[in-house]
Amino acid sequence: MAPAIEVRSLSRSFSGRGETLALDNVDLTVEEGELFGLLGPNGAGKTTLIKILSTLLLPSSGTARVLGHDVDADAKLIRKRINMVSGGEISGYGLLTIRENLWMFTQFYGVPGKVANERIDSLLETFGLQDKADAKLRTVSTGQRQKMNIIRGFATDPELIFLDEPTLGLDVTTSIAIRNYLRRWVREREGRTMMLTTHYMLEADELCDRVAIIDRGRIVAVDTPAGLKRRAGSGSSFLIETTPFDPEPIRSLPGVRGLTARPAEGHMSVRLALDDESVIADVISSIVSSGAKVIGLSKNEPTLEDAFMHLVGRGLE
Ligand SMILES: Nc1ncnc2c1ncn2[C@@H]1O[C@H](COP(=O)(O)OP(=O)(O)OP(=O)(O)O)[C@@H](O)[C@H]1O
Ligand SMILES: [Mg+2]
Repeated sequence: MAPAIEVRSLSRSFSGRGETLALDNVDLTVEEGELFGLLGPNGAGKTTLIKILSTLLLPSSGTARVLGHDVDADAKLIRKRINMVSGGEISGYGLLTIRENLWMFTQFYGVPGKVANERIDSLLETFGLQDKADAKLRTVSTGQRQKMNIIRGFATDPELIFLDEPTLGLDVTTSIAIRNYLRRWVREREGRTMMLTTHYMLEADELCDRVAIIDRGRIVAVDTPAGLKRRAGSGSSFLIETTPFDPEPIRSLPGVRGLTARPAEGHMSVRLALDDESVIADVISSIVSSGAKVIGLSKNEPTLEDAFMHLVGRGLE
């Protein structure tokens, strides 16, 4: 079976005032059924890659195959089977209602009428947009318009969907609802694939099976979110509050990478960097057997931001 997406030595440059190399020799494979994320700072090349894969832009060199077809030679075959939604885009006609807009988009794809209506109704309900179904698009809020855009993408029931910053500018509750829907969409349907771009680390972390970290047109790492965080080398971090004791013996416990202890009035704050979470049990027994009491314990997981910093040498913003 061909991978859902297969990119080989792909480059794309733009000429203008000087030449911009937006994608620089990118290799990437995404398997069918994956929820795959592209994470990177502004200008990294995420949108350019999505546009090439959704046949809106041609590569300058290299190849990209989507659902087994070449994006250059077989764009038409690809278009029928995919859809693309961009969080920042303005799409649809202001004078038509939300329902009429959605209907129109499904008809571009030749979705049979009855199926289209059922799907539109169900998606409007899922996204809490039934109340606005018959409102003219120009009268709805930016967030409602964006929800319509996302519905547009799913209403054609694509095998592969590209989402470029799907939750850009949406409020927290709406973003969570959308992420839940995205996750379910991939999980509950056989053989569906999703590629999304984001510069929200939490979104990439919570949602994606695998993430490609992209910076200045290059893919610097591809892994599961957990794998990327492991590469950050931070393991697990904990903060323990205790009654005073000598923390030095803890340093030599297996799996303890580092420790800083700050004594304060009547208690101590101990920061620990551990290889993994399981080491904390030994640390606690060591503290307790020294006669001290554990007053508080909190865990600080390394984030994808740590991973990005580790790989790229600077933060995401
Ligand atoms: N049509 C174009 N003409 C000229 N340069 C372009 C064009 N499209 C993109 N670029 C340049 O290519 C680079 C990558 O842009 P791209 O839009 O792919 O980044 P991005 O990762 O999507 O960033 P953002 O997070 O800001 O959306 C940038 O330097 C951008 O200026
Ligand atoms: Mg972009």
